Amino acid sequence: MSTTVKELFRAQPVVLAPMAGVTDAAFRGAVSSYGAALVYSEMVASKELLSDRKGAALRFRNTQAGTRIAIQLAGRDPNVLAEAALMAEAEGALLIDINMGCPAKKVVGGLCGSALMREPQLARELVRAVVKAVSVPVTVKMRLGWDDADRNAPTLAKALQEEGVQAFAVHGRTRAQFYDGCADWQFIGEVKSAVSVPVLANGDVTTAANAIQILKDSGADGVMVGRGAFGRPWAIAQMQAAVRGQSIPPDPSSAERWQTALTHYHAALEHYGVELGRRVVRKHLGWYAERAGASRSLRTALVRSIDPEFLLAQLASGRSAEEEFEEAA
Ligand SMILES: Cc1cc2nc3c(=O)[nH]c(=O)nc-3n(C[C@H](O)[C@H](O)[C@H](O)COP(=O)(O)O)c2cc1C
Repeated sequence: MSTTVKELFRAQPVVLAPMAGVTDAAFRGAVSSYGAALVYSEMVASKELLSDRKGAALRFRNTQAGTRIAIQLAGRDPNVLAEAALMAEAEGALLIDINMGCPAKKVVGGLCGSALMREPQLARELVRAVVKAVSVPVTVKMRLGWDDADRNAPTLAKALQEEGVQAFAVHGRTRAQFYDGCADWQFIGEVKSAVSVPVLANGDVTTAANAIQILKDSGADGVMVGRGAFGRPWAIAQMQAAVRGQSIPPDPSSAERWQTALTHYHAALEHYGVELGRRVVRKHLGWYAERAGASRSLRTALVRSIDPEFLLAQLASGRSAEEEFEEAA
């Protein structure tokens, strides 16, 4: 099975990071439509999934045909996590990823996410239970450690590999940093040296050039990209071409990017229903507008409008954003 994961990342070395509130079915579909082979779900709390609370299952449901998904789970109870993993496997997950990196107080306070980096024994038990429960490969996403005094990612990864983890994604910051400072790409290399399974390097990759650079600095097998894909779901495929030494697909034309936004909008409404869908997709429309260099007034109109579909459709028809906004206003 390990060869399968190795082959997967060798063939497709750039993946979309798990991001709560962002990498839902609609956004994953948009990223996949540009050729990214693997996209991670939002973190799904295993306890909520089992108790069917807060729409947890919606977070990993794959409404877009053809999307290859890794489902990320969070939890601290081995039995609950294993059962949630079985549900994720049944949903079609290609990989089950365990979150050991989330820095949020709410998550860490419940001994989940990056708090697990300070509980290596519990981390081992969680991995063991999930590996035993499912037949798909199990991966772990972690940070460098809790803080600079305890950068234990290499030793923890080594221990978790012994329990059957088949790949790691490492965000090059400590928990104490949250999102401050710069990701330490070199230190990710220490995790790579400690294990024999693939390592994905993560943190601050926003361009094809720095996707190549993070691989050089870390020696990792692949790259995981989060915020760099906001408002440009095509970026993952561009970075992938770059790291594979292929010619980089150009940015889509203005009409094409708005068509992508419109398709994304429809997918969100289909996934969540109209009311919730419109609320959830709003931030993405803001990011599309920002990346397109749209004026502040157009951006506001897209984000604030109760029903931005007409405006999106006009933009997708190929006329200039400002022109369309003037007419629609
Ligand atoms: C809005 C947001 C939500 C996130 N949610 C998750 C999550 O659910 N699970 C996780 O492992 N990491 C999560 N992360 C962390 C990202 O996966 C990634 O590690 C981090 O953003 C650094 O990568 P980047 O610089 O490419 O964005 C989140 C990050 C952001 C910005």
